[in-house]
Amino acid sequence: MPGDNPFLDPQRFERRIEPCVVVIFGASGDLAKRKLVPALYRLAYERRLPPGFAILGVSRTPLSDDDFRAKMKESVQKYLENSPFDESLWNEFARGLFYEAGDIGNTASFVELGKRLDAVAAERNTSGNVLFYLSTQPSQYGPAAAGLGKAGLAKQDKGWRRLIIEKPFGHDQQSARELEVSLHEFFAENQLYRIDHYLGKETVQNILAFRFGNPIFEPLWNRNYINHVQITAAESIGVEDRIQYYQDAGALRDMIQNHLLQVMATVTMEPSAVFEATAVRDERAKLLRSIRIWKPEEVMENTVAGQYGPASIAGQNVVGFRQEPKADPKAKTDTFAAATFFVENWRWADVPFYIRTGKRMPKRVTDIAIRFNSVPHSLFKTMSDGEQIETARPNVLVLRIQPEEGISLRFSSKQPGAGMTLRPVSMDFNYGSSFGVRTPAAYETLLLDAMLGDATLYTRQDMVEASWSVVQPILDTWAARADDPFPNYDAGTWGPKASDEMLARRGHTWRVP
Ligand code: BG6
Repeated sequence: MPGDNPFLDPQRFERRIEPCVVVIFGASGDLAKRKLVPALYRLAYERRLPPGFAILGVSRTPLSDDDFRAKMKESVQKYLENSPFDESLWNEFARGLFYEAGDIGNTASFVELGKRLDAVAAERNTSGNVLFYLSTQPSQYGPAAAGLGKAGLAKQDKGWRRLIIEKPFGHDQQSARELEVSLHEFFAENQLYRIDHYLGKETVQNILAFRFGNPIFEPLWNRNYINHVQITAAESIGVEDRIQYYQDAGALRDMIQNHLLQVMATVTMEPSAVFEATAVRDERAKLLRSIRIWKPEEVMENTVAGQYGPASIAGQNVVGFRQEPKADPKAKTDTFAAATFFVENWRWADVPFYIRTGKRMPKRVTDIAIRFNSVPHSLFKTMSDGEQIETARPNVLVLRIQPEEGISLRFSSKQPGAGMTLRPVSMDFNYGSSFGVRTPAAYETLLLDAMLGDATLYTRQDMVEASWSVVQPILDTWAARADDPFPNYDAGTWGPKASDEMLARRGHTWRVP
């Protein structure tokens, strides 16, 4: 039995990070402040970082190391979630924080960066290993990779060199390929880490544990038992201060092209032979390539674009998207997107997968509802004493990604008392109460993995391209619309009527999460 042999049990080996420097481009930006530095601090708190460790922040603003440390301290105190801030740990962590002003457009900046890296490596004993994180505008990815490459900083002669890039990977299929070419000019594929933070979420990782660590669900996990699947990723916030990016992106690009297609792939992929980067990613990629690509004339029937209009939510007046500060009053941005997808393989043929996402929805919730088939013959739908007795309702398994992380299974139960009245009840698993430990943030998991050289939870170029193949015809058809349907839902609601109609065409309704 492999489980009895300590040498074959991977859980018994603690994964150790080699000494390294994390270089954050865009260090004064939002992501660095809100997510990256707090995640690294939290890893320090967990004692997961190696003794030889440093962070080198890079951006255009001139700052001293001390200014940078002070700014990062403020951010960590503000954005650290569910963790205490420890002053003495911070002081130790801050000694490894450095800053270098630099401009990605300027070759000389990379030469300076190289010198600074040597100095930091000597001071902190980081042995030449460097993880570059591009937390910049996407238009800077190509130039940054080229700048690093030309300055010799991608070469792995003094230690490993890895590059993390954030989504969006291209604005469309064409630009995604162009980006790929420019990244590959100086970096090999195994040096590239394309982050999709949804894959780092504990609850998304748990989908694989649930499916492949339990023999009772997998036999049901197919078209013979599953009627359809609904994936919802709703946000109650509006576009906030990201109008510049979001106005051109829209919900389909921002959430479905990457996060939600990846979630769908996690729910539907075949088990890999081993839990290892290439094997797992091959299965994900295969699944993404199996999604039916809608022809232009099928797009409108199977997808819905929405944009929120003004409304009053709980007595507060909320502006519509077109009235948001700096928004184009005629913007065609989709702040809501829904789509029906099919996976064309033996396991999933004809099972609809409904995906919806939007800003300014009634609440923040991400979940996956797996609706099983109805009973083949109902015993319980007769009348008794003139009273309608409820028939068995279909089983629904809900994988709750956030914010109340857990899993629940709805099934029918006999209501106590005379007669045979059925009522739906639910069996619930909650992360919080079951494990009683804090769930690591996605960025902690993903940064740790990149430092360890484990790309299992990172997306790969073939997956990025497969997702674009699915999304591009939808974007093109939406863009070619002559009419202006927006706004078509009130802020604070579950999206346009057309989204309900899309499901009704196949006899289904959205579940209220
Ligand atoms: C980002 C999108 O990738 O994911 C945002 O650009 C969105 O628009 C965010 O708000 C949602 O992430 P999470 O982890 O809060 O669900």
